[in-house]
Amino acid sequence: MKNFQQQVEESAHWLERRINFKPEAVLVLGTGLGSLADLINDGQFFPYRSIPNFPHSTVTSHAGNLILARLGGKKTAILQGRFHYYEGYSTRELTLPIRVLSLLGPQYLLLSNAAGGLNPSFAPGTLMVVEDHLNFIPDNPLRGPNIDKWGPRFPDFSQAYDPELQRITFSCAERLGFNNVVGGIYVAIPGPSLETPAETRFLRNCGADAVGMSTVPEVIVAVHAGLKVLCISMVSNVNDPDNFKPIIIEDILIQAKKAENDFQKLIIEVLQTMGHTDVKSK
Ligand code: HPA
Repeated sequence: MKNFQQQVEESAHWLERRINFKPEAVLVLGTGLGSLADLINDGQFFPYRSIPNFPHSTVTSHAGNLILARLGGKKTAILQGRFHYYEGYSTRELTLPIRVLSLLGPQYLLLSNAAGGLNPSFAPGTLMVVEDHLNFIPDNPLRGPNIDKWGPRFPDFSQAYDPELQRITFSCAERLGFNNVVGGIYVAIPGPSLETPAETRFLRNCGADAVGMSTVPEVIVAVHAGLKVLCISMVSNVNDPDNFKPIIIEDILIQAKKAENDFQKLIIEVLQTMGHTDVKSK
């Protein structure tokens, strides 16, 4: 049985032998946002099950493909579908794709997810640029022996989300005429049960603006690997502890579909703008 490091290196070598370019950016498409991949017609497609050691998605709203394609002019590795702690994976297992792709030398990790709004000023369809996070998933992908060539034992998290990428995203949103893009704090919970009203009140009081069941383990691995991270959360529902409405997964998926167009435009504009120095600071 290969250990984790051997598995990661085997997957990275397998990909290196097959891919046409080294990716500059990795993009993770979250719940209901996977159809950005449908815009791509001349990419290289690798179903997760074809890649050695990749986990297989158990969630029907998530396809499982790695796609290498130029998006917004950038060489991008797109993970169409992600893995979650609630599926039964450890956070180390579910972040294997991020660790593998980090070994191919990208500079950026762009993440998306669907999240529940906690900030009462949010509305369904709000796009939240994540400024910082709280991790309530009781696991850490860096737990265990540190692999020093992958990153430091105690990585600094004072600025996990790259400020320049956040600035670029706000200026892209302005250019596109979007008025639904805000900044905020994301809290990751283990799931799969959704929050009770009391938990919602607690998470609000903790300072979180949106809650979801993903992303933070991936950010931890990416920061450890030295990548610049951007995350955009699509707020699918807003939870009011004093007037709590059932949170229905079908409604989340419908809202994700509605916001999909805006989201795709924004991501492509960000990819196009990234790495250029002519962006005015906000
Ligand atoms: N809670 C947790 N995860 C979510 C939610 C929510 O309300 N909406 C979308 N993902």
